[in-house]
Amino acid sequence: MSLRVVVLASGAGSNLSALLDAERTRRVAYEVVAVGSDRPSSKALTLAAAAAKRTFAVPFKSGGERSLWDKALADAVMAEGPDLLVLAGFMRILGRALIDRLPRRIINVHPSLLPAFPGLAAPAQALAAGAHITGCTVHLVDAGVDTGPILAQAAVPVMRDDSPETLHNRIREQEHTVLPIVVDLWARKALEQGCPFPSDPLTVVWGPDNAD
Ligand code: GRF
Repeated sequence: MSLRVVVLASGAGSNLSALLDAERTRRVAYEVVAVGSDRPSSKALTLAAAAAKRTFAVPFKSGGERSLWDKALADAVMAEGPDLLVLAGFMRILGRALIDRLPRRIINVHPSLLPAFPGLAAPAQALAAGAHITGCTVHLVDAGVDTGPILAQAAVPVMRDDSPETLHNRIREQEHTVLPIVVDLWARKALEQGCPFPSDPLTVVWGPDNAD
């Protein structure tokens, strides 16, 4: 039986697309059963509906009672009966209401090589720090900000003329490879020691374009 995956996403949904594409085109051991968002107009919900997935929105209102929103989100996620919750560009910190109900069963994808550059605007942070190499990380979610145990990473070169957007797009390409592999390995119970990446996702990290 397939692993039941619920995805939370706030934005463009390209990582959600990668999960759905892998589900459609490869023999993966997971099934995305529902997609939720804090933003009812998010492109991720449109993508999910087009793929005939169940969708739900729990709109976040600034100034509202945070614990009520946490509980509403937790209830909406749990109603879908997830085996695994994937945060694919979900731009809110999860409350304990949800984390405690899915212990060690929530993963996040983040656009840096954690523990470097946690939090918002990670590609811009990498550029500001003068990093030559950054990348993406898939990790377990705990109560901190991007602090849970690391499952998989892929390196990405920083080019001399990168903007935060060009760098983020290069990182996204790796996320789209790594995330479906991690979820599939999780579904196959093959992730105890973290995720091995023998070849492709570890990109070349040196070249004339970014040499000093
Ligand atoms: C990704 O870069 C992910 O690492 C970060 O948010 C971004 C979401 O992109 N948490 P998308 O919505 O999947 O295109």
